[in-house]
Amino acid sequence: MLARVSLIDRYAARLPVTARTPRLTLGEGSTPLVRSPRLEAETGVREVWLKVEGMNPTGSFKDRGMVVAVAKALEEGASSVLCASTGNTAASAAAYAARAGVRCAVILPAGNVALGKLIQAMVFGARVVAVRGSFDDALALARRLADEGEGTLVNSVNPYRIEGQKTAAFEVCEDLGDAPDALFIPVGNAGNITAYWRGFVEAASWGLAGRRPRLYGFQAEGAAPIVRGEPVPEPRTVATAIRIGNPASWAAAVAARDASGGAIEAVTDDEILDAYGYLARCEGVFCEPASAAAVAGLRRRAKDGGLAGIERAVCVLTGSGLKDPDTATRSASPPIEVDAELDAVRRAIRGGA
Ligand code: F0G
Repeated sequence: MLARVSLIDRYAARLPVTARTPRLTLGEGSTPLVRSPRLEAETGVREVWLKVEGMNPTGSFKDRGMVVAVAKALEEGASSVLCASTGNTAASAAAYAARAGVRCAVILPAGNVALGKLIQAMVFGARVVAVRGSFDDALALARRLADEGEGTLVNSVNPYRIEGQKTAAFEVCEDLGDAPDALFIPVGNAGNITAYWRGFVEAASWGLAGRRPRLYGFQAEGAAPIVRGEPVPEPRTVATAIRIGNPASWAAAVAARDASGGAIEAVTDDEILDAYGYLARCEGVFCEPASAAAVAGLRRRAKDGGLAGIERAVCVLTGSGLKDPDTATRSASPPIEVDAELDAVRRAIRGGA
């Protein structure tokens, strides 16, 4: 079997890379687009597709932008990178820094990062700093430290991150033969919705797509600054990846929403967990809670009659369910422990008393 083409090589002509940019790769991009018959039946939308970004090397979409950001940092002679993160950016930065042979420091909100992501940053050898504060506090600190020369900032305020992430929109257009009518996507720091919009606009401009989709972004109700129109000082949600009160790409996300004719809305934690369990049990797709916000939003709009004119929808499942074992453990049935004995095992399988 052929190795997957690296993201930088696949899209070199569309990215700000040169012959001098190191061809860094861990096999990112080219993720599956999986059709969801159950969601089609439930929502009445003719085609519903899931873009499974948890299949990236570190288990989230962050790898698309990180590979470009770290490659450009290398090209520019950097010896260390730095980021704030709710977890996935940290995992990705730590992996690509390890691969590139540069130092990495990650600043996390203490107690609010899913276990799998924390472990990734640790095993990849990053310097992991947990601050007693929010993600927004961590990002403010990371920006200051980067300004002081502590390392290249690889949060999505780094323009190469958005450039790399836009490639997901290209893949969707290539796989479907056009852009979909609508894209459903979780919104946290608001970089990814910004990146998809850029990707779809570019795809339409060079003829890869004949249209541009409406973008529907979803924040968690307890962390919905864009929906409320003001920062949320103490954001709260089970979806820790999007527990963000003052998104860095706020203005760009609003511009993308408006230019696309879409919306940015809030979904409750219950709706998120419901969509999370549904995807796993009914479609065999295990994403993390933040990712399920996109599907929660699709289902909510289906109930409210908000899908008129949408025949083909794509939901972006941004990260793998294995990232957050605690939420998974709380939301599913534990193993049934019995003696190693035929009757006992049979009874356990059949669910009898
Ligand atoms: N889904 C997941 C799994 C994420 O990790 C994030 C963001 C988002 C959605 C939202 O994307 O920020 O571009 O709007 N995670 C960042 C991090 C903040 O630090 O890993 P966004």
